[in-house]
Amino acid sequence: MKTRKLRDLEVSEIGMGCMGFSHGYGQIPAEDYSIEAIQKAHDFGCTFFDTAEVYGPNLAPEYFGHNEKLVGKAIKDFRKEIVLATKLHIPTAEAKADGVYVTIRRHLEASFKRLQTDYVDLYYLHRINPEFAVEDVALAMGKLIDAGLIRGWGLSQIPIDILQRAHAVTPLTAIQSIYSMVERSVEEEIIPYCLENRVGFVAFSPISSGFLSGKITVDTQFEKVDDVRNFTPQLKRENIIANQPILDLIGKFASAKNATNAQISLAWMVKKFPNVVPIPGSKNQGRILENLGATNVELTDAEFAELDKSLSALKVYGHRGHDESHGKSFLHVEKSVNAQK
Ligand SMILES: NC(=O)c1ccc[n+]([C@@H]2O[C@H](COP(=O)([O-])OP(=O)(O)OC[C@H]3O[C@@H](n4cnc5c(N)ncnc54)[C@H](OP(=O)(O)O)[C@@H]3O)[C@@H](O)[C@H]2O)c1
Repeated sequence: MKTRKLRDLEVSEIGMGCMGFSHGYGQIPAEDYSIEAIQKAHDFGCTFFDTAEVYGPNLAPEYFGHNEKLVGKAIKDFRKEIVLATKLHIPTAEAKADGVYVTIRRHLEASFKRLQTDYVDLYYLHRINPEFAVEDVALAMGKLIDAGLIRGWGLSQIPIDILQRAHAVTPLTAIQSIYSMVERSVEEEIIPYCLENRVGFVAFSPISSGFLSGKITVDTQFEKVDDVRNFTPQLKRENIIANQPILDLIGKFASAKNATNAQISLAWMVKKFPNVVPIPGSKNQGRILENLGATNVELTDAEFAELDKSLSALKVYGHRGHDESHGKSFLHVEKSVNAQK
């Protein structure tokens, strides 16, 4: 698989989001199947895996760390060959009592145990906690880098001023935010800043929770348990109908390139920006390999220009989650995070 750089970390051009094996898209698969899926992705050439301490069924306290444990089991035989990314939330009471650095280090060491490792390549703050200055987080992350416990650090779903303030203290390795053909607000300020300052950009929900694959229709019934698609404005019936021209456009290129819609949506962002690495997620082994295979779908300059221009001319109805999460805190998961202590 082709590779690219997130600052100093070399990763496969397309990474793998592991969240769906524990949370967010309905019933989770059997553990053996999920572990095998991660290992097959690695066999295919994927070297970039994304998880978070909080990913567990329903984000429930009793399942805290579920996804990290699963990822740890899956990667243990090839740990040193990959870039492993995880995320923490800073619980308010904990950091008020012990300070930001001690809290972050404690969470990191708990992640080490679950991930069966003694270092994390890319450690993100999952969401800003408004109680603590981002400069203090950046300082703490810098100390962890100096101690060799993490190789780089990142922020997720942050506005530009937070990014600038943090980067001035300890240079960021990557920003992880929502980005897809139908959720493009990071193109305005965040990605340009990252490009100028050698910060990587990791795109989550790059297939817009499956919408861009063209497999979701107005008749699709989402699962009743722990499925974010039930609350995604873009997946409301009227928006699925209104956004059909976008799927038609992608479908045209998919046919011409003998690719799938999902692959075109990934190939588009990889071609658009050299510092963008998408991390599609899927519970299905076949679709995981399909998504990684987007690295072999190369849009020519002329094809890209036509696709990008046509896409920009189409109105997008509804959003996937940007409006709900951008710049917001993560205080609703505090109960879950506190439960690990
Ligand atoms: N930083 C953050 O706050 C944040 C937030 C959300 C996610 N993330 C990370 O980003 C990763 C990716 O996010 P995401 O899972 O929302 O991304 P996504 O790939 O845009 O959406 C996943 C959904 O799309 C479907 N899908 C994926 N590939 C498909 C394909 N080729 N054909 C048809 N359907 C397809 C999946 O269904 P099937 O499972 O049925 O294939 C699943 O329902 C997560 O795993 C997580 O690691 C981070």
